[in-house]
Amino acid sequence: MNTPTETIRQAASPGTHDPAQGLAMREVTLLLGDGEDTVRALDGVHLTVAAGEFTAVVGPSGSGKSSLLAVAGGLAVPDSGTVTIAGRPMTAVARRARTALRRDLVGFVFQSGNLLPALTALDQLRLLRRFASADAVHRDPMELLAEVGMAGKADRRPHQLSGGERQ
Ligand SMILES: Nc1ncnc2c1ncn2[C@@H]1O[C@H](COP(=O)(O)OP(=O)(O)O)[C@@H](O)[C@H]1O
Ligand SMILES: [Mg+2]
Repeated sequence: MNTPTETIRQAASPGTHDPAQGLAMREVTLLLGDGEDTVRALDGVHLTVAAGEFTAVVGPSGSGKSSLLAVAGGLAVPDSGTVTIAGRPMTAVARRARTALRRDLVGFVFQSGNLLPALTALDQLRLLRRFASADAVHRDPMELLAEVGMAGKADRRPHQLSGGERQ
């Protein structure tokens, strides 16, 4: 990692700042590749993001942004260090438990793909709701589409949507 990754933050609005409800990464190290080609993608990362705080991660290609987000969201397991979200440990838990925490605590907006090509916009959201745990917050899929101005596109499949609409 030649040029370090930086963060740009917008503070939480007053009253919503609660570090215990946010993200905490401590001494996080992630090694990628093997043997001679091992890359230290993350090298002792400390990062806290309070609930309600917006943080952008910026840096040149190869500086470790995707690695950071993968570990922060529980998609990748660091080689050392700890990650907690809302006080729940994402590291040092079994894979099944981490999957459940990720399902309940983390939302991802991927750059592309990650939708099922055969399902309509509405059915993608219905499917997510079926996977959600009993105590997760359940929102009406049609209402969610309406919130982002897509009520009229509920029956469209991913190839009939723009990149932004898919996101
Ligand atoms: N599977 C891998 N094996 C070896 N090195 C990898 C692998 N994936 C990514 N890297 C390296 O890890 C570093 C961080 O990559 P990445 O987190 O994808 O950076 P960014 O998202 O900032 O472009 C880069 O130097 C990249 O070349
Ligand atoms: Mg990347």
